[in-house]
Amino acid sequence: MSIKKIGVLTSGGDGPGMNAAVRSVARSALSSGLKVAGIIRGYQGLIDNNVVEMNHRAVSNIINRGGTILKTARSEKFRTPEGKAIALNTLQKHNIDALVVIGGDGTYRGAVDFNNQFPFPIVGIPGSIDNDIVGTDETIGCETAINTALGAIDNIRDTAQSMERIFIVEVMGNRSGYIALRVALASGAEDAIIPEKTFDYRALNKEIEEGTKKGKISWIIVTAEGAAKAPEVAKTVSMTTGLETRFAVLGHIQRGGCPVAADRILATRLGAAAVDLLHKGESGKAVGVIHEEITVTDLRDAVKRPDSRTEEYINLMKKLM
Ligand code: F6P
Repeated sequence: MSIKKIGVLTSGGDGPGMNAAVRSVARSALSSGLKVAGIIRGYQGLIDNNVVEMNHRAVSNIINRGGTILKTARSEKFRTPEGKAIALNTLQKHNIDALVVIGGDGTYRGAVDFNNQFPFPIVGIPGSIDNDIVGTDETIGCETAINTALGAIDNIRDTAQSMERIFIVEVMGNRSGYIALRVALASGAEDAIIPEKTFDYRALNKEIEEGTKKGKISWIIVTAEGAAKAPEVAKTVSMTTGLETRFAVLGHIQRGGCPVAADRILATRLGAAAVDLLHKGESGKAVGVIHEEITVTDLRDAVKRPDSRTEEYINLMKKLM
């Protein structure tokens, strides 16, 4: 069956570059003669019948904007078989015969479950700051989030150094330490606490004590939210070393802002690739970019945990401390 109308939605936590992906999906589809419908608030929009027709102009001037014009949500109802049946009904009501979902691992799990329940053509685009998806080197949004966190840590470094303090900075990433690891290396931090590696407080305290003896006056330790909370780490380090600590939780600041070029390019390439796949009659797949090449992964494999360069990055941090 050849497809005539594509639906597109963004789901889960928004990430900078999602709009660029929506734009690319919509314009690629329209250019190849397909109709396009935008689903508002992710899977919840399918439950609530919140669907809008999209033309070329509907995605004008959004390539540079953070957030998502389609809005996003996490839908409890869609998780149930009845919710998915309502969603299918909405798709049929709007004559949508294929769906592009843009989101992270939760979004992909939703797509896999939907695909298990109904043989409806569906393709995933990795959009999340967390970079927790297999089948792509990076997810759309993570480069911008890393750069946003980096700017914040550069500012923190000024005060940490001036007031000779130990700073613990907590970054997002859900269960992934990707943002923490990258931003720690890029900011010249002394250590990173991440879910992928057991953290040894004793080793850190020893390093701090030895560093202090050698005249080191300030420290920046990045912690991933999925590994340890900054206030607790700050308290523990202060109690065990007797030194002054402060903490900063960067939070949702990392999710907003203008997407960097890398995220816009990735989103633009992947939007077109997703439409191409659906055109070819593929379903249950996710698109990504590995070593600069567009890749296609089974959606079921894409939700596994990716490898990170944990050892290499941590070792480098220690060497350059
Ligand atoms: O998945 C993206 C993400 O920003 C995670 O890094 C974070 O744990 C979570 O979403 C926060 O979710 P919420 O916006 O619902 O607080």
